[in-house]
Amino acid sequence: MRTDNIFDELRRIQDQHGFLPAGKLEALSRSTGIPLYHLNGVADFYPHFHLSPPPKVSLRVCSDMSCHLRGADSLRTELKQRFQSMSERDVSVREVSCLGQCDGAPAISINDRIYRNVNPAQAEALVLTALGGSPPPEMPVEARKTGLPADPYQNNDRLQADQDAQPYGALRRLIETRDYDDVIAKLKAAGLSGLGGAGFPTGIKWEAVRKAPGSERFVVCNADESEPGTIKDRFILQNLPHLVIEGMIIAGLVTGAQRGILYIRHEYEAQERVLEEEIHRCQREKLVGPDLLGSGLSFELEIFVSPGGYICGEETALMEAIEGKRAEPRNKPPFPVTNGLWNKPTALNNVETFANVPQILVNGVDWYKAQGQGGASGLKFVGVSGDVCKPGIFLIPMGLPLSEVIFNHAGGIRDGKRLKAFAPSGPSSGYLPASMAEVRLDFKSLAAIGSMLGSGAIVVCAEGTCMLDMALNAVTFFRNESCGKCVPCRMGSQKMVDLLTGWSHGKGTVDDLKLVDELSEAMKLTSICGLGQFAHSPITSVLKHFRAEIETHIVEKRCPEGVCPMREERYA
Ligand SMILES: Cc1cc2nc3c(=O)[nH]c(=O)nc-3n(C[C@H](O)[C@H](O)[C@H](O)COP(=O)(O)O)c2cc1C
Ligand code: SF4
Ligand code: FES
Repeated sequence: MRTDNIFDELRRIQDQHGFLPAGKLEALSRSTGIPLYHLNGVADFYPHFHLSPPPKVSLRVCSDMSCHLRGADSLRTELKQRFQSMSERDVSVREVSCLGQCDGAPAISINDRIYRNVNPAQAEALVLTALGGSPPPEMPVEARKTGLPADPYQNNDRLQADQDAQPYGALRRLIETRDYDDVIAKLKAAGLSGLGGAGFPTGIKWEAVRKAPGSERFVVCNADESEPGTIKDRFILQNLPHLVIEGMIIAGLVTGAQRGILYIRHEYEAQERVLEEEIHRCQREKLVGPDLLGSGLSFELEIFVSPGGYICGEETALMEAIEGKRAEPRNKPPFPVTNGLWNKPTALNNVETFANVPQILVNGVDWYKAQGQGGASGLKFVGVSGDVCKPGIFLIPMGLPLSEVIFNHAGGIRDGKRLKAFAPSGPSSGYLPASMAEVRLDFKSLAAIGSMLGSGAIVVCAEGTCMLDMALNAVTFFRNESCGKCVPCRMGSQKMVDLLTGWSHGKGTVDDLKLVDELSEAMKLTSICGLGQFAHSPITSVLKHFRAEIETHIVEKRCPEGVCPMREERYA
């Protein structure tokens, strides 16, 4: 039973009918031999699919960290009021998880089309356009940036006349030399660590795939990017697609994989188009496909559009999705390097990790090492969002102090306020106080203070922010996105949300604090994947660094920042 093109079939039906009618699923089951329970289970799992007719206009307001800091709650409340007289079948206003536009907060989607920096009047106008039957206008695509120091094909004067200086120069050379051990040695020497969050050494990963038994293997690029605050892959795909694709093809040659799949979140339509163009260019130049440059080597590359959900970014859940199943993480071991996609050895890396490979091979290990600061290597793309004057994506030396990113690159704190707290990498990293803003942005420095570099998703909170409110927001994200496969995460994240919601409404006792500690420990130790293991970070970090603020909520029944509802009797 092949289930791997199930999403194409489901999308075809949904495009035709607006949802997945039961009769059509039954017919699909009969024609494909895929059991109906499997089709229903898959369609029900992913937010992209509807099992009942959706409203004419579906307006979704992102409710996560960066949008929350930029007025998403009041935007949603205002829009609900504006459309309250309309039937839910015409317009529904709901929350949605991070749309990958944290630098354009608050972000919304209307019938799956995304808009940034929206105010109520703009959102209302877009909804009315959609209600009138016309598709709302597309957001303008940002102009492509050139001259980025991360692009070895635009900045290396020394090599300008050399073939290595042309795009795909590292690949062309590798096809000639076939010195795959040299690539692995260089990645190891440069100290390239995975930039999707976990920081696993890339050279070691590729070597393990290369040595794994069996003839068939895969390369997968993780462009799912769905954690609040994480926006840097969107920028890389848009501006440096050739480096990502070159990195993937090189990974294919080094590991012996002849097929690569670039897994991209479905909201990144503009970036998908850029990638498609780049892949076509590679096909024309015989850099992708059979018989690369007449060498007899081959590498096929395709794009897989995610059916949605933060959990799909977890590497094994992502592979389950490609295989046409529910994106529920697998138990590890075995690891993807030996038992990955379709149980074959798989080199799965983040977008930025792949983009770093040509940099190292063209500019050299010494150049790469010299780019970092304070003992760290390389350049790093970081996203900065929340309470800063200039939210955006910035290319920095790995190891740059965080304060420089916030105050120089992102223009400091908005409205002339002071910095209160920051999350170095979205909800998983937890919140740190302003007194720690001198920390260097690299794996070791952040781990040393009990946090993580993660994917470089810096979310900034100005003075006046309630840290209980921010912890509740982040824990709610994890609760919403838990796939539900394991009990500690499914039940534990709900229990956390219940406790924190209670505190924000003046309920709860000091005994709850012990309960949070115990729950965190149990979730850390027993959850199958990183989502459940890190779901406690927002509240445990706030209890560590802002304990007095939390105790004031619990003991004095008062929100020091005047943000929490406190005295309202009813709460979710
Ligand atoms: C819940 C969850 C979501 C994740 N989302 C992403 C993601 O969107 N992109 C990504 O590259 N890695 C993500 N990761 C990490 C991946 O599992 C994996 O470690 C990474 O893609 C490996 O690539 P790297 O070694 O190049 O970092 C996520 C992990 C978890 C637990
Ligand atoms: S930890 Fe959470 S997200 Fe991960 S497998 Fe368990 S239930 Fe699913
Ligand atoms: S788009 Fe709202 S938090 Fe990312």
